[in-house]
Amino acid sequence: MKVAVLGAAGGIGQALALLLKTQLPAGSDLSLYDIAPVTPGVAVDLSHIPTAVNIKGFCGEDATPALKGADVVLISAGVARKPGMDRSDLFNVNAGIVRNLIEQVANTCPKALIGVITNPVNTTVAIAAEVLKKAGVYDKNRLFGVTTLDIIRSNTFVAELKGKNPTELNVPVVGGHSGVTILPLLSQIPGVSFSQQEVADLTKRIQNAGTEVVEAKAGGGSATLSMGQAAAKFGLSLVRAINGESNVVECAYVESDGEHARFFSQPLLLGKNGIIERKPIGTLSAFEQQSLDGMLDTLKKDITLGEEFVK
Ligand code: NAD
Ligand code: LMR
Repeated sequence: MKVAVLGAAGGIGQALALLLKTQLPAGSDLSLYDIAPVTPGVAVDLSHIPTAVNIKGFCGEDATPALKGADVVLISAGVARKPGMDRSDLFNVNAGIVRNLIEQVANTCPKALIGVITNPVNTTVAIAAEVLKKAGVYDKNRLFGVTTLDIIRSNTFVAELKGKNPTELNVPVVGGHSGVTILPLLSQIPGVSFSQQEVADLTKRIQNAGTEVVEAKAGGGSATLSMGQAAAKFGLSLVRAINGESNVVECAYVESDGEHARFFSQPLLLGKNGIIERKPIGTLSAFEQQSLDGMLDTLKKDITLGEEFVK
């Protein structure tokens, strides 16, 4: 099993690499890549942690040595938000970075399961899909936008409000990964009910949680540690699925059956070759249905922007 992290010297990348070094199955290979020259040093630092995970770091313009033989590729390379910015403001810089890295993935490890963390996820996943398609290696069951942070935030905020154990919650979050496109399905949490006001307030807090961190960091970046945890959770689920574990289910932003939008985050049953089944999003409350209807224009525009970028 080989996992590659692209953007590994960054805030997310380093946290993610630490978690993978301590949690990947024994015998796994972990390769770290970033344009930053510190990256081999990050790998040396992590290599002193006594786990049976082999780690190597690579820097410079060429990601291929890091990608060779990778089964899972997690991409957090790119710039992060500062206060006053929307995720879509990152498009100008990050679209080109994702295109370039995915071209290298297509050439080097076209069968890898790919998790895109780089924002704006609603758009960068569409870019990745189009680049893979152009290269003739696109498999819609192997490309994921990582939205796990929305799920772990929902679990935390619901637990805080209702006095529950957050580790026992698993709130489904559907749609996309920005503003109104983030839709937690609060009506689907077994044994937990909310007033209408609580649903409205909680939904808004989950949708704005990224901005909450950006503002709290006051120019120092966006969520890195909680995102490192989220990406590790998602990446380790991919690894467990590849290793044959059954019933591995995660929400992620993937090419859907097109009912709502071409790309849509929903619960997925994962297996050796990526998605086995796109699970239905279930019965929605009136509030959730209205929120879903209200997000689709935004989501579709975000997707078209990515598709057009590659054309
Ligand atoms: P960061 O600035 O700390 O790290 C980014 C890293 O990417 C840097 O080390 C930089 O050198 C590297 N990089 C830039 N261009 C590269 C290239 N062409 N090839 C390889 N590496 C390159 O940023 P961060 O806080 O780690 O955030 C990274 C991205 O993740 C941002 O776009 C951010 O918006 C996004 N993000 C997504 C989620 C999510 O839920 N999906 C959550 C938080 C952040
Ligand atoms: C988040 O949800 O924290 C990330 O998408 C980063 C951001 O810019 O909000």
